[in-house]
Amino acid sequence: MHENLENRYRERIWENHVAEDFERDVLSGLRAAQKSIPSKYLYDALGSALFEAIVLLPEYDLPRREIALLKRYAATIVATVGGPPRLLELGSGSSEKTHLLIEAAIERYDTVRYTAVDISLGAIRAAAVQLLERYPQIAVDALVGDYFQVLADVPRQPRTLALFLGSNLGNYPGRRGCELLRAIYVALTPHDLLLLGVDLRKNRETMERAYNDPIGVTAAFSKNVLARVNRELGTEIAVDNFRHVAIFDDSTGNIEAYLIAERAASYAMGNGRGAVGFAEGERIHIESSHKFTREEIRSLAADSGFEERMFMPDDDAGFALALLERRDDG
Ligand code: TRP
Repeated sequence: MHENLENRYRERIWENHVAEDFERDVLSGLRAAQKSIPSKYLYDALGSALFEAIVLLPEYDLPRREIALLKRYAATIVATVGGPPRLLELGSGSSEKTHLLIEAAIERYDTVRYTAVDISLGAIRAAAVQLLERYPQIAVDALVGDYFQVLADVPRQPRTLALFLGSNLGNYPGRRGCELLRAIYVALTPHDLLLLGVDLRKNRETMERAYNDPIGVTAAFSKNVLARVNRELGTEIAVDNFRHVAIFDDSTGNIEAYLIAERAASYAMGNGRGAVGFAEGERIHIESSHKFTREEIRSLAADSGFEERMFMPDDDAGFALALLERRDDG
């Protein structure tokens, strides 16, 4: 990094942020009664490139809806902080959407601190260089690690506006969503803010179409996780024996994504790892993506120590920004 950028940039890497064990996780997931592969493994280099294509699909409109809302409300949100903010973003990725809030903060307060948390060192560095070059008023802290790990140690700072965008909260279904909000609570000081971007519940066809696009980009993204197993573990799973399906489950409010075996088959896992058998129609679960109601956001907030300050849905209530305030301790 260029020297005059370096004094506005700090980086900290959590020791065991790569302590994941692909082989162990895949083998135990495929041997369980309900087969699954953790969704974090969808994002190798090819998977990340395919996801970049998903966000361009007209059917997957979450990113565009969120950007439109950020454009509309960035100035209001930033004004609510009441002074130069520290933005603390979980899952910052390319930080593309964050530019809108950063610009609004600089416009109002002439300065901004940005603490970016992401599991990918490459993504966070690339995003930081762009921000530092573009905005002389910004200082960037890059924290590389797992959200829970980082949140447990991140220094607290008054006037923090935490950001958890992209409906990423929906990928922590059930109690885990509340646990994550609680971990954010602990990293904040009283009256700090948390901005959530959440995909809202709508009709089944619309929700399922976002995860089953007609040209098959999403199917390629899903199947890539099995291709990745073949590439990295040297197995020969017939990827074309699997079909991608995403179904909205009314009872949980989740889109559940699966790979379904078309025919019964058994695949050697190599290296004395035994074999994994599939019955015809057997499913591998690869992702849960919760779709929220307004009431769920309110009760999640209340259960984790926050209060709703603003709820900002788009015109047809397909997606919303929710601005929450951390309550006093006690
Ligand atoms: N986590 C994202 C989401 O829930 C990613 C995603 C989009 C996804 N389409 C998918 C994950 C299909 C698995 C399968 O929206």
